[in-house]
Amino acid sequence: MQEAIILVGGKGTRLRPLTNHTPKPLLGVAGTSFIRHQIAKLMDAGVTHVVFATSYLASLFEEEFKDFGESLDISYAVEEVPLGTGGAIRNAGRLLRGGPDDAVLVLNGDILSGLDLRAILGEHRRRAADVTLHLTRVPDPRAFGLVPTAEDGRVLSFLEKPRTAEEIVTDQINAGCYVFRRAVLDAIPGDREVSVEQETFPGLVATGHRVLGHITRGYWRDLGTPLAFVHGSADLVTGAATSPLVGPAGDALIHPTAVIDPGALVTGGSTIGPGAVIGPGAVVDRSIIGAGVTVGAGARLHDSVVDHDSTIGGDSLLRETVVGCHAHIGADNELPAQLRLSCGIRIPAQGVRVSGTATACSTVH
Ligand code: GDD
Ligand code: MG
Repeated sequence: MQEAIILVGGKGTRLRPLTNHTPKPLLGVAGTSFIRHQIAKLMDAGVTHVVFATSYLASLFEEEFKDFGESLDISYAVEEVPLGTGGAIRNAGRLLRGGPDDAVLVLNGDILSGLDLRAILGEHRRRAADVTLHLTRVPDPRAFGLVPTAEDGRVLSFLEKPRTAEEIVTDQINAGCYVFRRAVLDAIPGDREVSVEQETFPGLVATGHRVLGHITRGYWRDLGTPLAFVHGSADLVTGAATSPLVGPAGDALIHPTAVIDPGALVTGGSTIGPGAVIGPGAVVDRSIIGAGVTVGAGARLHDSVVDHDSTIGGDSLLRETVVGCHAHIGADNELPAQLRLSCGIRIPAQGVRVSGTATACSTVH
């Protein structure tokens, strides 16, 4: 029996307002909640029991999977108070069914990767490791855990989110997927907040445990920021990243109930949700359009997410924008890039412009 723990208790603050009502792993990516892509991948790798380590909006996970008819057992380890990543792993470990030497997969709940799970499990067993960490390389490692390794793959140190230039000793980072020997996982304190990155991994390395790196160079993305989130979704649609739940690669994934005007362009791996309406001349590029959203004629959206039941007025321009649910952006707005618009916000027509001339004053003086 292969078991896995998925850490899904974080608040997803960098993805607000999308995460105000929905935990990050339940947000829609390429037409399905992200966690379902992860679950499908785990099942393909032979996992038969998954424990969700939940905290923030915990009940929504049970709601999502209440009718899950697949051959996978799902357990829920709910933290009343978040226990940190290490505390969460230990707490979820109470619900595992295997023995002390069994290999347990542990996954961060926001990583899209091409990692071959059977390969990391095989290497962990073959090399009789205490913990095996999936490692990858990124151009800018500052937002991650730095993990230098020796020639033989042994982890030399673990430094979470380096603060100074001197601390950046490698571009090899913790990719957020681990295999633990169960006894090692059971030894993490479970009664208080523990960071697996700041406390457990450095501690295991310092005490001479067999902590190994499984280094890959394939597709990898943490979906925790708005831009990474839309790009990850688009990569699944275009086939740059794969999931058992996404069909043949294409330019866009359009729900059968969405209505796209023949004069609109939906491209770059965009996803259009149920009941959405895209008007003539509109451009939706590498973006996620939620259920019931209306995009007016001539509006242009690039690298943006629009949550359900919002309206984007005609000829408005959005770049790298996150729009909460039930928002109304009037016509002829040109929004500065990287805005996050709260749920329910209303921006009148011609309310915001960052280039060219503002429209003539319509007020009587
Ligand atoms: N149950 C539970 N309880 N889950 C938690 C808690 C908690 O207290 N805190 C965080 N999590 C979950 C989040 O939901 C997420 O799935 C995962 O743990 C990692 O948290 P993030 O907030 O996404 O961390 P990060 O992206 O800044 O850094 C982590 O991932 C990087 C790779 O993307 C670290 O593991 C880094 O070392 C790593 O490089
Ligand atoms: Mg993350």
